Amino acid sequence: MTAHIDASKFLDPRVAAFVSGRHAMLIGGQWLPAASGRTLDVLDPSSGKVIAAVPAGEGADVDLAVKAARKAFSGPWSSMVPAERAKLIWRLADLIEQHVDMLGPINSYECGKPIGDSRNGEVPFTAETFRYYAGWATKLNGESMTINAPGDWHAYTRREPVGVVGQIIPWNFPLAMLAWKVAPALATGCTIVLKPAEQTPIGALYFGKLVEEAGIPEGVVNIVTGFGEAAGAAMSGHPDIDKIAFTGSTEVGKMIARAATGNLKKVSLELGGKAPTIVLADADVEMAVAGASSAAFFNAGQSCGAGTRFFVHRKIYDKVMAGVAERAEKLRLGPGLDPSSELGPVVSQQQMERITRLICEGKSSGAEIVTGGGRAGDTGYFVKPTIISNTTRDMSVIREEIFGPVACAMPFDDEDLDALARDANDTEYGLAASIWTNNLGAAHRLAAKIKSGTVWINCHNFNDVTMPFGGFKQSGWGRELGAQALDLYTQTKTVAIRLP
Ligand code: NAI
Ligand code: MG
Repeated sequence: MTAHIDASKFLDPRVAAFVSGRHAMLIGGQWLPAASGRTLDVLDPSSGKVIAAVPAGEGADVDLAVKAARKAFSGPWSSMVPAERAKLIWRLADLIEQHVDMLGPINSYECGKPIGDSRNGEVPFTAETFRYYAGWATKLNGESMTINAPGDWHAYTRREPVGVVGQIIPWNFPLAMLAWKVAPALATGCTIVLKPAEQTPIGALYFGKLVEEAGIPEGVVNIVTGFGEAAGAAMSGHPDIDKIAFTGSTEVGKMIARAATGNLKKVSLELGGKAPTIVLADADVEMAVAGASSAAFFNAGQSCGAGTRFFVHRKIYDKVMAGVAERAEKLRLGPGLDPSSELGPVVSQQQMERITRLICEGKSSGAEIVTGGGRAGDTGYFVKPTIISNTTRDMSVIREEIFGPVACAMPFDDEDLDALARDANDTEYGLAASIWTNNLGAAHRLAAKIKSGTVWINCHNFNDVTMPFGGFKQSGWGRELGAQALDLYTQTKTVAIRLP
């Protein structure tokens, strides 16, 4: 634990100048304030201090952005040959990489994560995602069919862009979430209205400058900053948006699905999770300790794939628990911008309060705190890395997504894979899971029984741009990343010709 340090002292003056400067939204190639003139404050989560103000966009601003996106869709973007589009997306990837000295610190400043995770993790992954989808722009082909009816026929399919897409993203990986959505949409020829989370809009606005610099035609990428209840809701219900892609809470995901029924826009949702981390008796204890700790504490637990329910074989339970608790207690808490910080704050007061409330509910219903157990310090939004034991299946700490550095641990005695899978699957979520073992048979058998979109074996939170990611059950609809993300942004047209 460290004493409070003012994050701004780690700021490069160029980053500080951009963050505290005047911010506007990118709409139709122009930088505009909100029509209402209103702004919203952005805070440094390590101090709670206001670091910037951005436009608080609402319905009128969304309307303007949708008009610009529609114009670009029926204009330059869809008439551009794919190879040209690919070049522009590749150029954007290069610019993201070249601007790591701005994007990295901006990202860590506004969302609080350790600077190394931004500079060496999220920013390069963001660039890589654009590069990967740049490659796909030239590989979107239809197919031809052999027709059964008598006569001479020629039939084929075309893969056409869905049109104007609304993309609503969260604050936990502000740049990676932007890339997972914007890159495949650009590759397929869609145009975009992007709404970053109200907590982390600054990186997205900086990205907007790179979009311009890359030479992407105006109106193709529009960025509307604002609150979810105003700008986000206006997008979900908008009659001229053809598709919404959303990452965030299951609660808001359901609201978006309902709002989308007006024009039956396509919807893809990447929602919450409550991933099990399953450690079998034969697992390498050291590897499992490191893996379970990072599954729970990486990004201060603010990851939809976070491993928040440990199931550990009784034979090694005490060893694993002791190892995880030792790591938790050694983690150095501090502002993301301080290079010596290993665990940043959570993003907001609201999130901190939600996490500490859930920990308290666990305690008062009989769970035991192995380590951690509440807020750290009294400045900023730091939460102690926390492990909870003695839980029962009905406790809110076991049922709800906590989205903080908190995990619950449960021993199991019998390596009956069906029983293990039943416990692991005892959640409304189904995003991810990890299994720690050297037993190949058990690993694959259990992987097949787990109801989640991703199963990691001897790793956790491992995402690669080639691997589809998304949820079973209430963790969402659709798959992002990989070739499957292209399906979210294209629709198939069948053309059948009777040859004269
Ligand atoms: P949220 O779901 O409210 O926010 C995510 C995005 O949705 C933001 O851009 C927000 O402005 C927008 N939004 C909010 N209300 C909206 C509405 N009515 N219509 C359209 N868009 C709307 O998530 P929040 O409140 O920040 O966090 C609450 C919980 O959600 C977290 O504790 C966590 O459990 C979960 N969450 C999950 C994420 C994931 O990666 N799956 C990411 C962020 C939050
Ligand atoms: Mg919310």
